[in-house]
Amino acid sequence: MTEYIRINNILDEDERYRLLIPQIKSLLTKEDKLISNLSNFVAIIKDTFEKISWVGFYLFDGQKLYLGPFQGKVACTNIEIGKGVCGTSAARRETIIVPDVTEFPGHIACDSNSKSEIVVPLVQNDQLLGVLDLDSYHYNAFSKTDEEYLEEICKFLSDEIFPSNYQ
Ligand code: SME
Repeated sequence: MTEYIRINNILDEDERYRLLIPQIKSLLTKEDKLISNLSNFVAIIKDTFEKISWVGFYLFDGQKLYLGPFQGKVACTNIEIGKGVCGTSAARRETIIVPDVTEFPGHIACDSNSKSEIVVPLVQNDQLLGVLDLDSYHYNAFSKTDEEYLEEICKFLSDEIFPSNYQ
């Protein structure tokens, strides 16, 4: 198994992402099962950014999103497309940054301490695979830096890690 090199807390977020991405690309491999890859992925993200209270996947089964591998507190198991931040991101196929969850109409509060959130969709050949969801106990925790790097990571997961016959 690839060694995971801890990322120093002194580094700023841009530097952490730049060190993290090659580690993710060597840690995850198509020879492993999808659930194993996604489980290791959420562990590495949670371990790298202390601002994150919850990180996980909601996967698309053709009709709705269902809870996939995650790190953090127990979460809701099913989300309709178009509902909450996750379902809205899935419907629009766009990243959504929510600086204050109380200001997002229809936000689904799995953990009442959550203050801000970012959701990035996973799409392969125009097919929705699911979304990656990150929450924080701090307001305004996610920036354009998170958006840019998480989109790059989600493109890698969609193109290289999800099986081509997924679903
Ligand atoms: N807040 C999300 C629901 C998932 S939890 O944050 C883990 C939403 O509004 O879709």
